[in-house]
Amino acid sequence: MTKKLDELNEKIALSHLGGGQTRIDSQHKKGKLTARERVGLLMDEGTFEEIGMFVTHRSTEFGMEREKYLGDGVITGYGKVNGRLVYIFAQDFTVFGGSLSESHAEKICRIMDLAMKNGAPVIGLNDSGGARIQEGVVSLGGYADIFYRNTLASGVIPQFSAIMGPCAGGAVYSPAITDFILMVENTSYMFVTGPNVVKTVTHEEVTSEELGGASTHSTKSGVAHFSCANGVECISYLKQLLSYVPQNCEEDAPSVPYEPADEKRPALNKVVPDNANQPYDMREVISEIVDADTFFEVHKNYAENMLVGFARLAGKSIGIVANQPAFLAGVLDIKSSLKAARFVRFCDAFNIPLLVFEDVPGFLPGTDQEWNGIISNGAKLLYAFCEATVPRITVITRKAYGGAYDVMNSKHIGADMNYAWPSAEIAVMGARGAAEIIFKKEISEAKDPAEKLKEKENEYINHFANPYRAAERGYVDEVILPEDTRIKLIKAFSMLKNKVDKLPRKKHGNIPL
Ligand code: HXC
Repeated sequence: MTKKLDELNEKIALSHLGGGQTRIDSQHKKGKLTARERVGLLMDEGTFEEIGMFVTHRSTEFGMEREKYLGDGVITGYGKVNGRLVYIFAQDFTVFGGSLSESHAEKICRIMDLAMKNGAPVIGLNDSGGARIQEGVVSLGGYADIFYRNTLASGVIPQFSAIMGPCAGGAVYSPAITDFILMVENTSYMFVTGPNVVKTVTHEEVTSEELGGASTHSTKSGVAHFSCANGVECISYLKQLLSYVPQNCEEDAPSVPYEPADEKRPALNKVVPDNANQPYDMREVISEIVDADTFFEVHKNYAENMLVGFARLAGKSIGIVANQPAFLAGVLDIKSSLKAARFVRFCDAFNIPLLVFEDVPGFLPGTDQEWNGIISNGAKLLYAFCEATVPRITVITRKAYGGAYDVMNSKHIGADMNYAWPSAEIAVMGARGAAEIIFKKEISEAKDPAEKLKEKENEYINHFANPYRAAERGYVDEVILPEDTRIKLIKAFSMLKNKVDKLPRKKHGNIPL
C-alpha cells in the first residue's frame, strides 16, 4: 500500500510542477505569477479543490505522445472567495504555453457545466498561446465548445475573465462574451490578429502592447473593464467585484451590516456650481451619497463622460450610472452609451438595483457621431433601461435636456422614482438655442437683436430651467434638498426591495446591436 500512496503523491507533485521548474522560473522572470500561485491568491486558504489534475492530452502527432504533462496546461476546480463558492480555470503557461488542446478545453467545459448546474460564478484566468498547434481542428472545436457555454451561461451566472498573459486569435471571444474583463498591464494582451499580420495587411508598425495591451483596451476599445498594475492587483480586483454580485440570476447580491446614522450630507448642497456651464465632479456626489469608500468603478478610463460602477447603500449592493459633467460636459455619445448599456444589462440580469445620477446636456452632435451610428448606439442605452425590471431610481442634479432626459432612466421608461435637486433644468434644449428658434422673428426685428436674445433666453430659463414643470406633471416625484439625497434613496430602495415586474412574454427582444 505504501508504494501505491507514494505513487499518488508523486503524481500530485508532478502535476503541481506543471511544465517544470525552468519554465516556472521563466514565468517569474517575465513578472508573471504561475497559474497555481494565482489560484492560491484568489481562493480562501484551504478551500480549493482541484478537478482533473491528472488529465493529459491525447495527441499523437509530431511526437506529442512522448511529451505529456499532468493537468494539460489548465488548473480547474472550485473553492471559496470570501466564503462564497466559485468555479475557476487557470491556464498554465508553463505547459505548451497554456495552449488549448481537446483535453484542456474539456476540463474548462466541465467547470462551466458544474457552475451552471450549481449556480455559482466562473472565473477564467487566461494565459495562453491559443489553439494547441499540434492538435489542429480539435482545438478549434474545443474553443467553440467553450464559446457556446459562455453564451448559455450569460445572464445565468456571473462570468469573469482575467487576462494575465497572451490571449490572441479566436481565443479572445470567450472573454469577450463574459461579463467582465480584467487585464494586467505590460504582461497581457488581447488581439484578433497580432502585430506581424497587421504589418503585412495594413503596413502599420505596432507593438503587442500598443495593439492590445491593458492600457489600449481599458481606454481606447473598452474591451477591458479593469486595467491592473500586476497579477496581485488583478486578483484583488476580482475579489472586490465578486463582493458586489450575487451567485446567480435567482439570488440577490450579498449585503453587509448597516447601522443607521445621521444620513444628512450637507456638503452636497454646495457641489453644483451656480453657473450652469461650469463643470463639477459627479464622483464627489456619488461618494457623499453611497456608503463610505464603496464606489467601485467599472471602465474607469473609458468614455469618461459616463461613470458606471458598483457601490453599497445602507449595506446593499447597487449599480450606479452617472453622467460626468467634468468630462465633455457629461454629453451622451456612442462610447458612453455602450458603456452604460452593458452595465445596466449586467445589473438587471443579476438583480442589482440601479441608481442613476443625471446631468446631461444631450447627445453629442457631429458627423463623426452620426456616421458611426449614434442613433443605433444611443438606442442600446435606451433599450437597456426600458427592459430593466430591477428597482430603478434617478436623481437629476442639473441638466436633463432633450432625448437624453428620456434615455437616462426617466419615469416614462420605467424608473420607479425620480428625484430632482433644485438646481435641475429639465427642458427640450438649452435656453439660448431654444430662444434662437422660437423667438427668431422677434429677435431679428428687434432694435438690438443681441439684447432681445438675452431677454428671451432669460425668459426661457425662468420658464423651464428648473425642476418644477416636471414635478407638476409627476415626472419628478419630489424636488429634494441635495443634503437629504442619501436618506431619500435609502428609504426608496427599501420600499422597492420586493418589486416584481415582468416583461411581455417573448423568445428574446431584439436590442439594436
Ligand atoms: C503549442 C505552444 C503554443 C501553441 C506556445 N507554445 N504557443 N505550443 N501550441 N499555440 C509553446 C512553445 O512551443 C513553447 O514551448 C512554450 O509554449 C512557450 O512559448 P514561447 O514562444 O517560448 O514563449 P513566448 O516567447 O513568451 O511567446 C509566447 C507566444 C508565442 C507569443 C504566445 O509562443 C506564440 O506566438 N505562440 C503561438 C501563438 C499562436 O499562433 N497560436 C495559435 C493562434 S490561432 P517550450 O517547450 O519551448 O516551453 C488560435 C485560434 C483559436 O488560437 C481559434 C478559436 C476559434
